[in-house]
Amino acid sequence: MHTKALLAALLAPAAVSAQLHELAVRAGLQYFGTALREGALNSDAQFAAILRDTREFGQIVPENGQKWESTQPSRGQFTYSQGDITANEAKRNSQFLRCHTLVWHSQLPSWVASGSWTRATLTSVIDTHMANVMGHYKGVCGHWDVVNEAINDDGTWRDSVFYRVFGTDYLPLSFELAKKHDPETKLYYNDYNLEYNQAKTDRAVEIVRIIQAAGAPIDGVGFQGHLIVGSTPSRANLATTLRRFTALGVDVAYTELDIRHSSLPASSQAQVTQGNDFANVVGSCLDVPRCVGVTVWSFTDKYSWVPSTFNGAGDALIYDSQFRKKAAWTSISSVLAAKATGAPPVSSSTSTPAQPTTTLVTRTTSASSTTQPTPTSAPTQPAQVRWGQCGGNGWTGPTTCQSPYTCQVLNPWYSQCL
Ligand code: XIL
Repeated sequence: MHTKALLAALLAPAAVSAQLHELAVRAGLQYFGTALREGALNSDAQFAAILRDTREFGQIVPENGQKWESTQPSRGQFTYSQGDITANEAKRNSQFLRCHTLVWHSQLPSWVASGSWTRATLTSVIDTHMANVMGHYKGVCGHWDVVNEAINDDGTWRDSVFYRVFGTDYLPLSFELAKKHDPETKLYYNDYNLEYNQAKTDRAVEIVRIIQAAGAPIDGVGFQGHLIVGSTPSRANLATTLRRFTALGVDVAYTELDIRHSSLPASSQAQVTQGNDFANVVGSCLDVPRCVGVTVWSFTDKYSWVPSTFNGAGDALIYDSQFRKKAAWTSISSVLAAKATGAPPVSSSTSTPAQPTTTLVTRTTSASSTTQPTPTSAPTQPAQVRWGQCGGNGWTGPTTCQSPYTCQVLNPWYSQCL
């Protein structure tokens, strides 16, 4: 009875708000998290309130504050004012902290990128950087992205200052040094476009092998997950790709997930497709035992790196720019809830929505009435607003939508006004 009530509460309509981390943990992941845009925390109360909701986000990562240009802009001058924003926030809210990032060609001050180095002098520079930055955050970083984006999209090695000086030797060197400066944190290689299982993915597999063959430590591979609506691989293909890495004995995680519309405004159908794409990514993590968690690269379209980076693209996140949950949020919560309750996986098909089941969970009257008072006779529910729930297994709320939106079936548990 207790379990049943718990599950009922978990799936009760109003309880589905703000609980992606809670659902993720129940589904077997370690966390659901978000990047923190440093400038927004103190200037935007709505942003801060959602970020601090630990039922929604159990993990955070600084969007920019720990990068080399932020922490050591001039040689020997270390500054943590930006990086500490996220670290302090994680402590304040008891959120798991991912730390990002140490050895990366981008957002690297020119004194490093354009310096004239030998192996010995550049080793010393990396060692000093890690000694200070990892030392400052020692004991608080659950994961560190040690090396970021070492590969070009065609699978060739990226021509960074690190590669020019060391060849691939900087890979095991960086992980070895990172271990020395923080033996407890989990050490990650992190990159984008690994999701497509092409030449770049092959090379990332090779990176893990190079590090391991050198006897250096590596704990995980981060799939950044900067993806495109309608071009995101299927759940099964994504899981196959993740397993190429877990087969090597490392964890995997989605570390910077966003799924952008190529052009705006996005149609209702495109919103649904985006939701299914998010569900496939999160679902693939659920399907692979060593996939430890999912992090979105900010959660609101109000603060996303996408529009300024990909011309014409945008709306890549799970809340819109006015902090309203999008279909993407609902789809993620559905796929997590399905795993959390042992129910059949949610269909990712838009053309043939899964049939509602009657066997999942019998929601108790009290569970739904505490959160969603329901008239006992002749219900006259007001029409639901845009984005609101309008149907699904056990749903007792409104089933019609305010004009011009229509109630669309996303999966057995959720229909949404889109
Ligand atoms: C991006 C930030 O989101 C932007 O604010 C910044 O201007 C550029 O960097 N891969 C990474 C992230 O590893 O650090 C990048 O973050 C996005 C791509």
